[in-house]
Amino acid sequence: MASDTPTEYLLELEDIEAGYGRAALVLRGLTVKVPAATIVCLVGPNGAGKSTVLKVASGMLTPRAGAIRVCGRDVTSNGPQQMLTSGLSHVLQGHSVFKEMSVEENVMLGAYTLKDKAEIAERAGFVKDLFPVVAERWSALAGALSGGQQKQVEFARSLMVSPQVVLLDEPSMGLDPKATQTVFDQVVRMRDAGTAVLLVEQNARRALETADLGCVLDLGRVHISGAASDLLQDPQLAELYLGGRPAEPAASTASG
Ligand SMILES: Nc1ncnc2c1ncn2[C@@H]1O[C@H](COP(=O)(O)OP(=O)(O)OP(=O)(O)O)[C@@H](O)[C@H]1O
Ligand SMILES: [Mg+2]
Repeated sequence: MASDTPTEYLLELEDIEAGYGRAALVLRGLTVKVPAATIVCLVGPNGAGKSTVLKVASGMLTPRAGAIRVCGRDVTSNGPQQMLTSGLSHVLQGHSVFKEMSVEENVMLGAYTLKDKAEIAERAGFVKDLFPVVAERWSALAGALSGGQQKQVEFARSLMVSPQVVLLDEPSMGLDPKATQTVFDQVVRMRDAGTAVLLVEQNARRALETADLGCVLDLGRVHISGAASDLLQDPQLAELYLGGRPAEPAASTASG
């Protein structure tokens, strides 16, 4: 009934149950929805299931129950290649550039499902405009780039297929503060250029400062969700996930 109905969401994960092999469920009735032109971030402790959510969305892991829809169309049983052509592109946790290949070759791997040469050239121009470092280092070996620059090559590769939603797993992992800032700025540019983002981050405060909407994952479900700016001000959330209380307007006298 829900499939093929008009929706304001580009991606809907609804009541998802998923796990690995015979092990216990990791996701237990998880619902996450990504509207257009939005960065939705998913935060939670190590092992909470954040990467598992993205694996389900990109078809790497088939859910045991629940539904996945892209623009209202049911894609629950799609495998990875079909999810890609349905509009979901996944940038994995960790680094996934091929260091001994050029930046160009790495980016073009993202176009392997495209046939039309004009479209491929148009997309290459688009990602080079969006990520200047990719254009500047187009012929260089990817392994010669810094970690933050390599992450931008991965972003560029993921955008070659014009995805509806790009799934980003811990893009700031292993980066210094300056490179982290650049990567988060680029996530905002991706959104502003028309691609919605489902962002998983350990750096919860930084992710919520960047995102429009946030979801806190706990025990395989979304525990709290809302505007990212509201979540940043939630005292309980700050205590549990953000490493301290929210910033207070006026300082009080310190004690003990
Ligand atoms: N390939 C796998 N096979 C079996 N169990 C797995 C596999 N991948 C993840 N798990 C288990 O699923 C649970 C959730 O893992 P997941 O990687 O989704 O967590 P995460 O929130 O992304 O953690 P992190 O912040 O450390 O990246 C963990 O208990 C983990 O051990
Ligand atoms: Mg993870």
